[in-house]
Amino acid sequence: MQCRPKSDASVFTHKRAGMSLELNQPMLNSLYDLLDSIGYLHPIHPAMTHMPIGLVVGSLLMGIAARVLSHPPLARTAYYTLVLALIFWFPTVAFGLMDWERYYAGAWLHPIQMKMILATVLLLLLVVGVVVGYRKQGQSPWLLPVYALCFMTVTALGYFGGQLVYGGRTPHASPEFRPGERVFDSNCSGCHAHGGNSILPDYPLRGAPALERYDDFIRFIRDPTLSNGAKGPMPAFPATRISDEQAHQLYDYITQVVEHPARKPSI
Ligand code: HEC
Repeated sequence: MQCRPKSDASVFTHKRAGMSLELNQPMLNSLYDLLDSIGYLHPIHPAMTHMPIGLVVGSLLMGIAARVLSHPPLARTAYYTLVLALIFWFPTVAFGLMDWERYYAGAWLHPIQMKMILATVLLLLLVVGVVVGYRKQGQSPWLLPVYALCFMTVTALGYFGGQLVYGGRTPHASPEFRPGERVFDSNCSGCHAHGGNSILPDYPLRGAPALERYDDFIRFIRDPTLSNGAKGPMPAFPATRISDEQAHQLYDYITQVVEHPARKPSI
């Protein structure tokens, strides 16, 4: 067993505590590769979240309207909308877990932890709402507070999702560096937002020794290691994931745009 610096050890114990989707890795990769091939380079979960969020907002608005107008059919519709939100909770969370594995290598980032907690709270609220409403045919006075709490929970979930996505990603590139930007966005920005490192802050992308020369860079991303030579949390990127040509584009984007023009292009 290699000895790791202390800060690294804590990451390792936090990582994947009790949860791993590794067994499904080849299946997951082929799904994402298929999406890549049709030009969909982003995580799937953010698109999916519109379903439960929209349904929760809908149930709250209809619940309020039903109360104000004393209109029982509307109250029933509000209730069934909540049932749909519960149904969509499952695929949304499943895609969230898959994206987490693919784009963040299952790392326990703070927004991820918050989202796990809030998604659990939302599930409990939805189940309570569905059970309470089932008994009273959607007419229970308790439903409106449940709709409101669900609404607050999805808003908070959206906030932490936004932190993951927009909490500082990538500087925008001029057209010549766009191909490298695409490679960076779909493979690196999750952990190296702003040219930093959200998993091990001591290993920021900006100013990294591995960016000194293209040869060092390609060797590093094919087989990343910590400074003591041990295997760290960064996933390896074989040529099947990032081709040599893409690696050139990526290197130029990182050195010319993320780091600001400080080094010579590779080609
Ligand atoms: C899952 C998170 C994650 C992803 C995705 C990721 N990295 Fe890293 N990166 C790390 C970690 C953690 C380290 C520290 C070294 C290690 O773990 O091997 C690191 C280190 C680095 C370093 C060396 C930094 C230094 O200060 O020495 C470079 C360069 C780098 N990554 C480039 C990339 C590139 C390019 C990509 C995309 C192709 C990428 N990384 C994707 C987490 C990630």
